[in-house]
Amino acid sequence: MPSEEVFNTPDGATYTTSNGDPIAEPYAVQRIGHNGPVLLQDFHHIDLLAHFDRERIPERVVHAKAAGAHGYFEVTHDISDLTCAALFNKVGKRARVTARLSTVAGEAGSADTVRDVRGFSVKLRTEEGNWDWVFNNTPVFFFRDPSMFPHFVHTQKRDPQTHRKDADMFWDFFSQVPESVHQLLILFGDRGIPDGYHHMNGYSSHTYKFVNAAGDIHYYKMHCLVEGGFRTLDSTKAAEIAGQDPDYGLKTMYNAIEQGHYPVWNVFVQTMTIDQAESFRYNILDMTKIWPHAEYPLRPIGKFVLNENPKNYFAEIEQSAFSPSHLIPGVEASTDPVLQSRLFAYPDTQRYRLGVNYQQLPINAPIAPIANFQRDGRATFVSQGNRPNYKSSIQPLSYIARTASQAKHEIWLGQATAELSSVTELDFEQARILWNKIFDESARERLVKNVSDHIRNVTSESIKRRQLSIFAAVEQTLSDRIADLIDLPHVTPLQVPDPSAALRFQASSH
Ligand code: HEM
Repeated sequence: MPSEEVFNTPDGATYTTSNGDPIAEPYAVQRIGHNGPVLLQDFHHIDLLAHFDRERIPERVVHAKAAGAHGYFEVTHDISDLTCAALFNKVGKRARVTARLSTVAGEAGSADTVRDVRGFSVKLRTEEGNWDWVFNNTPVFFFRDPSMFPHFVHTQKRDPQTHRKDADMFWDFFSQVPESVHQLLILFGDRGIPDGYHHMNGYSSHTYKFVNAAGDIHYYKMHCLVEGGFRTLDSTKAAEIAGQDPDYGLKTMYNAIEQGHYPVWNVFVQTMTIDQAESFRYNILDMTKIWPHAEYPLRPIGKFVLNENPKNYFAEIEQSAFSPSHLIPGVEASTDPVLQSRLFAYPDTQRYRLGVNYQQLPINAPIAPIANFQRDGRATFVSQGNRPNYKSSIQPLSYIARTASQAKHEIWLGQATAELSSVTELDFEQARILWNKIFDESARERLVKNVSDHIRNVTSESIKRRQLSIFAAVEQTLSDRIADLIDLPHVTPLQVPDPSAALRFQASSH
């Protein structure tokens, strides 16, 4: 029999059942006599088993493995010309944040040091509601058509028959999506394996909108640049760590915060006026493209610091619910179709994963007071008392003023959205710059090796050739060097239409 003090928690709490009934001995099931059958009246035992049976909630369908922590965002620069968000009405103002930094494809127990995109979520609690940044550690994404997302995720996860990751599925998808090559070069380059979660940058990837007090729109992309720089691991070291210390990323971030080495990110935006957006070389709704920094410089807006580890991972990190649709006045979504789909998908999955009242969970509840006509449902903790549950004329709520719409620009946007489906020569330009100008020879060497080591496992020759033709469209030598390493003949570049086709909407909109 364990001694009594084993069950005395450090806070001095007394052991009870879930209804608060104090229990003398947790390790004793009620029986008839010493060796007789277990009794149904033993609520302590049934309470324990029944709760245990329900401990798991669905893990996130993507981004299941993550580190998380709390801290603050601080406004460092006046951007009232860009946004009327109350958060930015004073330099030095702070908002409490929770961040969740994740891998994408692996399950909740998977290794941290895999070659994969990383998720970068931050919840800012402002006086006008929660503003979530649901970013990645890469400035671009694999595609710009949201209908691809579930297919894409399936090909990065397990084969339906073998239940293993499958190189054929992986490259079959990408080799049919040429616009993915920009992101692929980043993924298979040095930044494809960050050294832990707190040594990497975060990027909105999408274009969002700021709206100022006069109703003017500025498009923006956000960049969170980590102090101390982006640190990476090479494939060999990463594989070694994955075997020996799969939770390396969780451990290193937790320990850094415990030891007072708080991770800090400086936050910047690149902005464009409507006119600049309409005449930009690339489509602002195309998330496979960056905005060149020389033309659209980074403008500092704030910084955020993670200085507190969660006390309880499940309550503070697993139950957190981030969504790009959690916005505040002065910040809006662009009409990027991938973003538009995400605005739906996150709250949808969270209603399934956490329940219809997921916003009432302590970690998600806004500090701003809530008043609306949503009522009841499973696990309601905030019922809004006797406030009317409809738009009452007797006891009305107050409503904020509507912002003006920009009708002319909306017509342009309709055309810009329609143009997103065609792949053109423009889709290889930025990947070509990465290969030729940003990567030095040793980075190119590592990229070629990383891709070859992965694509070598593909059994279908046609998939490999198709992918090589995409690499050749970026730069023939990139393709040839990979082909040499995987013993395939050189291939010619994928033929795509001229960029003028993609730029058509810009000429016709004025
Ligand atoms: C997580 C869907 C594209 C970043 C998720 C989740 C879903 C999802 C269902 C799980 C959320 C949860 O259970 O709470 C989609 C769809 C996409 C898309 C349908 C495209 C159509 C993207 C893009 C980014 C991104 C482009 C980054 C720019 C993230 C992050 C998480 C996440 C960071 C983890 C959120 C967390 O920490 O809880 N996504 N996603 N996703 N997604 Fe996406």
